[in-house]
Amino acid sequence: MRVLIIGTGYVGLNTGVVLSYIGHDVTCLDTNAEKIALLQSGKTPFYEPHLDEMLAEVGPKMHFTTSYAEANLSTVDVVFIAVGTPSLPDGNADLSYVRQAAESIAQEMNGNFLVVVNKSTVPIGSGNWVGSLIKESYEKRVGAKADGYFSVVSNPEFLRQGAALFDSFYPDRVVVGSENSHGIQRLSELFAPILEQNFPAPACLPRPEGLTGVPLLVCDLTSAEVIKYAANAFLALKISYINEIARLAQRVGADATLIARGIGLDSRIGPRFLNPGIGWGGSCFGKDTAALVATARDYQLEMPIVQAARDVNYRQRAWVVDALQDGLKILKGRHITLLGFSFKPDTDDLRDAPSLDIARLLVQRGAIVRAHDPVALQNAQRLYPDLGVRYCQDVYEALQGTEGIVLVTEWPLYRELDWEKIPPVLVVDGRNFLDREKLKSLGFSVLGVGR
Ligand SMILES: NC(=O)c1ccc[n+]([C@@H]2O[C@H](COP(=O)([O-])OP(=O)(O)OC[C@H]3O[C@@H](n4cnc5c(N)ncnc54)[C@H](O)[C@@H]3O)[C@@H](O)[C@H]2O)c1
Repeated sequence: MRVLIIGTGYVGLNTGVVLSYIGHDVTCLDTNAEKIALLQSGKTPFYEPHLDEMLAEVGPKMHFTTSYAEANLSTVDVVFIAVGTPSLPDGNADLSYVRQAAESIAQEMNGNFLVVVNKSTVPIGSGNWVGSLIKESYEKRVGAKADGYFSVVSNPEFLRQGAALFDSFYPDRVVVGSENSHGIQRLSELFAPILEQNFPAPACLPRPEGLTGVPLLVCDLTSAEVIKYAANAFLALKISYINEIARLAQRVGADATLIARGIGLDSRIGPRFLNPGIGWGGSCFGKDTAALVATARDYQLEMPIVQAARDVNYRQRAWVVDALQDGLKILKGRHITLLGFSFKPDTDDLRDAPSLDIARLLVQRGAIVRAHDPVALQNAQRLYPDLGVRYCQDVYEALQGTEGIVLVTEWPLYRELDWEKIPPVLVVDGRNFLDREKLKSLGFSVLGVGR
């Protein structure tokens, strides 16, 4: 099929690469000309494991453009909207990019039946809204009814940054929501190789043993939209739940990592998303939980559980700074090192990264902050040049003369450091990730989360 993807970020580019690999003819369109130029020259605009290898493999078959004329919508079967939906100050999602994309589609569609897929995470009701925008704009331009020329389908994305390609080749499920059976049929055909798992697995991303098929959940548009928010909020609250238990564990002298194991072995609960730590960050959980609370408010409902998960999460960031202050007593003038800056390993994404709040709080309290990250420093320098943090490419430079260390992101390299070379100071292990016995034997004081 011919596929157009509008928005070539983490979701759009990843989707494009996977659809191209399984045999579709894919064009990725973005308003960011710099990004498109990079992609046209075969380079990746952000860090994501295996993306460069996969782009080298399928990239020459894909088309990258900023122009709708070049994308030629009249020959397209499926168009994905995968633009950003960042948070507005009131928690609602900013839909201005989705609006632009929908209006551009209406300006360019040309008589062939087009399936418009909302892949961006959009508030409940947005599918209908996108449908009305396209209809209104098309009818104004053409002077004839748009009915029968397009249908809107919701196909929420569940990928994890850092494992985006793996998650798209081997998803737990594919959700397709629409009131239009032609739209559903076309998407089922588009995703057939993924659903049936009958494509040859890429060498760098072998198929998990025993995976013979992926469930397809077909539902109405609104349910698909709610599924996305409900899934993210549930994962977010699992993390906050264990962090709340970690607080109690610390107070009563218990070990939250053992508690997490003890409850995670219960198959009704499961072990994932139960690691006590400094909480979630990234482009999704914060934004999507805020949007869920805001949407509920629009319908005169409260979401106290989701709101509490948010409160607990953002408290964890201040806890780190308080823990350092308790240990060092005075932060003013102290050299503090942050190990890791991205919101999680295997990505250079800094959206809602805990490191940013931790750095701000430390700087406010007078600390001299140095930070290291294996891939995110370029973004940090570009986006946060005035944070008051010295970004160090060399991890040992960041640790030279340090008086306190915070492990912010669990990049494996931090476990493997030559800790003998580093001054034995207080380490706040924000992810319970380091080898605490080894560090203690070298004279470090180690404070974990909930231990
Ligand atoms: N990143 C994730 O892990 C993830 C996972 C699931 C769902 N989502 C959702 O997917 C959507 C996209 O997220 P992302 O992380 O890929 O965002 P992103 O910011 O990485 O990419 C969005 C892209 O859209 C482009 N864009 C904006 N307006 C445009 C327009 N009118 N026409 C063409 N391009 C336009 C931007 O230039 C940017 O390149 C969001 O709604 C997000 O919530 C993200």
